[in-house]
Amino acid sequence: MFLPLLFTISLLISSSAHASLLDFCVADPSLPDGPSGYSCKNPAQVTVDDFVYHALSIPANTSNLQKFGVTTAFAPQFPGVNGLGISIARADLGVGGVVLLHTHPSASELIYVAEGTIVGGFISGSANTVYYKTLHKGDVMVFAQGLMHFQFNIGETPATIIASFGSANPGLQITASALFGNNFPSSFVEKTTFIDEAEVKKLKAVFGGTG
Ligand SMILES: *[C@@H]1O[C@H](CO)[C@@H](O)[C@H](O)[C@H]1NC(C)=O
Repeated sequence: MFLPLLFTISLLISSSAHASLLDFCVADPSLPDGPSGYSCKNPAQVTVDDFVYHALSIPANTSNLQKFGVTTAFAPQFPGVNGLGISIARADLGVGGVVLLHTHPSASELIYVAEGTIVGGFISGSANTVYYKTLHKGDVMVFAQGLMHFQFNIGETPATIIASFGSANPGLQITASALFGNNFPSSFVEKTTFIDEAEVKKLKAVFGGTG
């Protein structure tokens, strides 16, 4: 009676000790991504540079229609976050710039306004209530996982947002691209949204869609 209990306890201790041996799982992006992330790089080949990422120090290029650029430090770019359930990104918004309505299917998001003045907002999933607020430098806003959200610059200077995520690979679906930036037949878009086909074709020209 006593002995099996002791055995069970020692098994539990040894299995938790084993789990804690895996301090990290630096991504090996040469292998395919899976639901739990990338496979681990051989720890003997891991260096400090796997845990450091410099690209967020540079403003992203905002010379585009949205006046918006983003640099992501997700597992594919920043292998050290693989398996840790966290990641970070930097978004730059020129004057008048916008982060189009989008969702991250796999993560909640926290934004921190590092420069500028923006409006941040999201739409709740059940009641479709819109929550939005003007955010100034130093303000933080949270967007729950999977909800549609947006930001736009309302200031007279460029804005910079630092965004952190509760996933090493949050995913991204931009609503306009899903409707107008692909091969979704225009008649199907009209059928499924009630947006008239002429408008759909106009928006497809803007977002690079076909059909
Ligand atoms: C920014 O992007 C535009 C449009 O793609 C390009 O013409 C321009 O050279 C880029 N600027 C820099 C500094 O990379």
